[in-house]
Amino acid sequence: SQQELWARSDQYHNSFLIQPDEALEFARKNSDENGLPAIAVSTAQGKFLNLLARSIGAKRVLEVGTLGGFSTIWLARALPADGEVLTCELSEKHAEPGLSRLRAKTSLMRVCRTLGPAADTLKKLQPAHPYDLVFIDADKPNNLTYFIEAKRLVKKGGVIIVDNVARKGLVPDESNQDHNLEGVRKLLRYLKDDKEVDATSIGTVGEKGYDGFLYAIRL
Ligand code: DHB
Ligand code: MG
Repeated sequence: SQQELWARSDQYHNSFLIQPDEALEFARKNSDENGLPAIAVSTAQGKFLNLLARSIGAKRVLEVGTLGGFSTIWLARALPADGEVLTCELSEKHAEPGLSRLRAKTSLMRVCRTLGPAADTLKKLQPAHPYDLVFIDADKPNNLTYFIEAKRLVKKGGVIIVDNVARKGLVPDESNQDHNLEGVRKLLRYLKDDKEVDATSIGTVGEKGYDGFLYAIRL
């Protein structure tokens, strides 16, 4: 199938470019065993986030949507010793098995997490220093709320990435009122007239099928 073809393509590339990794494999296995949906970023996408964070010399990263902590690990590893990831998660069920057990096992000391609706968490945040990078990968209907808070919390020149913006190419079909698709459209409509960021959507294909990242810089 197409899905198998693209999964194999990812695996082939990864076999040259990405070392197998115990902490990441643990995160996936732990997520599966705890019944979390298998929707974490792919290995290649996780490494992309890691490389991006390193490219911009990120020290402070904000993540919206922890799930099992897979992208969290990739991001945390990109940071210098005095760096920090703050990751926000609604559900104890998601954050707990992934992060606490993971922290114990892999000494991921630079990760802080919050529990509860990310919209509430983000609105209350008054960080002493702005974030260098924000990764938004949570409930899609709230994409715009998260994006607006991300703009407030990221430094000028900082980066905001939103996951899952292409969604198998279904976004343009406005007759499809799926809430996740609507969450992407709402963000796009907002961005059309937004003068505070400059952005593009990059479609991706791989083991998760066809999807994409929105990449924005804060002006
Ligand atoms: C979905 C969410 C994700 O974060 C993802 O990477 C893939 C799919 C979803 O809710 O459908
Ligand atoms: Mg995602």
